[in-house]
Amino acid sequence: MSSKKKLQIALIGAGRIGSSHAEIIDRRLHNAELVAVADPAPGAAARLADHLECDRIITDPAEVWADPGIDAVVIASPARFHTPLAESAARAGKHVFCEKPMALSIAEAERVIQAVKDSGVHLQVGFNRRWDRAFAAGRDAVDKGQIGEVQLMRSLTRDPGPWGGDPAKVPQWTIFYETLIHDFDTLLWLNPGARPVEVFAQADALVRPDARASGHLDTAVVTIRFDNGALAVAEANFNALYGYDIRGEVFGNKGMVTMGDVQKSNLKLFGAQGISADTWRLDTQEFADAYTAQFQHFTDACLGIRPFSAPTGRDARAALAVALAAIESVKHNAPVAVERIAAL
Ligand SMILES: NC(=O)c1ccc[n+]([C@@H]2O[C@H](COP(=O)([O-])OP(=O)(O)OC[C@H]3O[C@@H](n4cnc5c(N)ncnc54)[C@H](O)[C@@H]3O)[C@@H](O)[C@H]2O)c1
Repeated sequence: MSSKKKLQIALIGAGRIGSSHAEIIDRRLHNAELVAVADPAPGAAARLADHLECDRIITDPAEVWADPGIDAVVIASPARFHTPLAESAARAGKHVFCEKPMALSIAEAERVIQAVKDSGVHLQVGFNRRWDRAFAAGRDAVDKGQIGEVQLMRSLTRDPGPWGGDPAKVPQWTIFYETLIHDFDTLLWLNPGARPVEVFAQADALVRPDARASGHLDTAVVTIRFDNGALAVAEANFNALYGYDIRGEVFGNKGMVTMGDVQKSNLKLFGAQGISADTWRLDTQEFADAYTAQFQHFTDACLGIRPFSAPTGRDARAALAVALAAIESVKHNAPVAVERIAAL
C-alpha cells in the first residue's frame, strides 16, 4: 500500500469502547479514515456514524467482508463474538484490530491465528496498557537490565465505582476473561522470554455478595509462577470508589519499576481539610493517548509504513491460557499447571 493512502477502517460494534475507538481514529489519526460503522443493534451504528459524520451504516458485518474498499476492521463487539468476527474479517482479507479477549477458548484462539496466517493480514489485539508511556518505559527498563533478574511482579485493575452493573447480565468468568486478561498480558509482556508455569486463583463476590449464589465474581487475586523463577500477583475489583486504578510493578535483584497512577495529574488542591487530588474515572480518559498510539501503530503497519510488532494473536492466546488456568483454579480451589491448559 502507498504511504499516501489513508487506511479505510470499518468499526464493528458501536458500544462504549467502540465509540471511543472510532472517535480516536476519526479525530486523531492523519492516515486512517473511518468509512463504516457496523452494529446489529437498531440505532447504535447510526448514532455514532451521525456524530462522526460517517456515511456508511451497516447492520450485517457480511457487508463489510464483501466491500473491497474496506482495508481493515476494528472489532469492539461483546467478547463472545470476537472470534467469529476476527476469523471472517481475516478470511475476507481485512486487517484486524480485535478488542480483548480475542477468544474464549484455546481452540477459538487457534482459529483466528490460522485465519490470519492463511490470509497474510495483520492482527493486533487491544492490550492498550503496552502503549501507555509509563508501562512502555517499564518494559524498556526490564529490557535494558535495569531491574536485573525479575523476582516479583504485580499488576492490578480496580474499575471505578460505584459499580452499577447488573450481575445477571455479566457473563460468567468476566473478571478473568475481560478484566484480568489485561493484567495477564501485562505480566507476561513485562517478563519477556519467560513462560507462566503455574496459576493459583481465588475469587469472590465482595462488591455484590447478594449475587454470590448465582456465580457472580467481582474480586479476584491470582498468583502466577514463571519458569524463570519470577512470582507475580494480579488482582482485580469492580468497585474502586476513588477512581480507575491501574498499576504495575516489576522488582528484581537490581531495582524496581512501578507504573500507573490513579492520580489524574500532579495538581494538588490545598484547603481547610488538607490536600486533595483528582483521580481518573474512565479508561477512555486515562488511556486516550495509549489507545491513539495503538491505532497509530496498527494503521502504520497495515499501510506498510513500519513493521508490525505486537500484541499478536499468540500474545492473546498466551494471556488467555493464564485466564483459563485461573478459572480452572477457582473451580477446584487448587493450583493449575498452565501447560495442562495450553502449550505456550
Ligand atoms: N481495551 C480496553 O481498554 C477495553 C475497554 C472496554 C471494553 N473493552 C472490550 O471491548 C468489548 C466491547 O466492550 P463495550 O464496553 O464497548 O461493550 P458495549 O456493550 O458497550 O458495546 C458492544 C456493542 O457491540 C454491539 N454488538 C453486539 N453483537 C454484535 C455483533 N455480533 N457484531 C457487531 N456488534 C455487535 C452491541 O450492539 C453494542 O453496541 C468487550 O470485549 C470489552 O472487553 C476493552
